[in-house]
Amino acid sequence: MTTLPSLLLVGGGRMGSALLAGWREQGLSQAFVVDPSQGAQALAGSNVTVLADISQLPVDFTPEAVMLAVKPQKAAEALPAYGRFSGKAVFISIMAGKTAQGIAQLLGGSPAIVRAMPNTPAAVRQSITVAFAGNGVSEAQRRLATQLLSAVGKVAWVETESALAPVTAISGGGPAYVFLLTELLEQAGLDQGLPPELARIMARQTVIGSAALLAASTETPEALRVAVTSPGGTTAEALKLLRADDALPKIFKAAIQAATERSRELSA
Ligand SMILES: NC(=O)c1ccc[n+]([C@@H]2O[C@H](COP(=O)([O-])OP(=O)(O)OC[C@H]3O[C@@H](n4cnc5c(N)ncnc54)[C@H](OP(=O)(O)O)[C@@H]3O)[C@@H](O)[C@H]2O)c1
Repeated sequence: MTTLPSLLLVGGGRMGSALLAGWREQGLSQAFVVDPSQGAQALAGSNVTVLADISQLPVDFTPEAVMLAVKPQKAAEALPAYGRFSGKAVFISIMAGKTAQGIAQLLGGSPAIVRAMPNTPAAVRQSITVAFAGNGVSEAQRRLATQLLSAVGKVAWVETESALAPVTAISGGGPAYVFLLTELLEQAGLDQGLPPELARIMARQTVIGSAALLAASTETPEALRVAVTSPGGTTAEALKLLRADDALPKIFKAAIQAATERSRELSA
């Protein structure tokens, strides 16, 4: 089974290796990974060659897609060497806060660039990745980007690059908010005098089980919430506090606004 064309992955860290694992399942024809770290050698395997430096890439290799998965701080140093694929390959960048224009400047020429924001559930193929196609990205390249990104979960597209700032704030950072909720539930159990191990497992399994129920159900989150909430009962008492105008709704709105603004600042 070979469904993917030739690929080049730049950066085989957490995100890059999750993508590569998904591509292996889809069927790789030929892929090179460029990553100088020792750990990256473990990514080598059938049809996958790991190189410490792009200078080792065979001169006759031209990928159809180049996935840019290095840290944004490394972009200025790493990207210019890949400019030779400008106009030939589609560049898919998952680097947070690096604009299509900034990436194009580093690559030179008129590269076709897709920017994408996955999140850490990519490690278990449960990411939501939101993507934006810059100028000059063909329909076929967009389809290829969808195929490559869907290797780690669901993919959605936005038509304006500025939408990636709230996307970064909501789904990029979103897992952290859910993990914080898990931590707070555990702490609440401790505060109520429950044994630590019980508090831990209750908090974890409540979040895991609720996510699984949401995934399996056709109901909205609101309907699932209402189903837990008997009028005048215990959950209603807690939700009265949590959902008060000045409580979670207000804090969440302000938190996402702050993260969105930070994302715009970092992209400037
Ligand atoms: N983690 C998230 O939640 C998340 C979500 C969305 C998007 N992203 C984006 O995904 C990108 C990768 O993040 P990550 O968490 O996977 O980072 P990571 O685990 O640090 O992976 C980056 C890899 O790139 C390697 N590298 C460094 N310089 C390189 C170069 N010049 N050429 C090729 N490879 C090089 C690093 O090696 P060394 O370790 O030796 O430096 C490392 O193995 C980032 O741009 C980030 O903004 C992350």
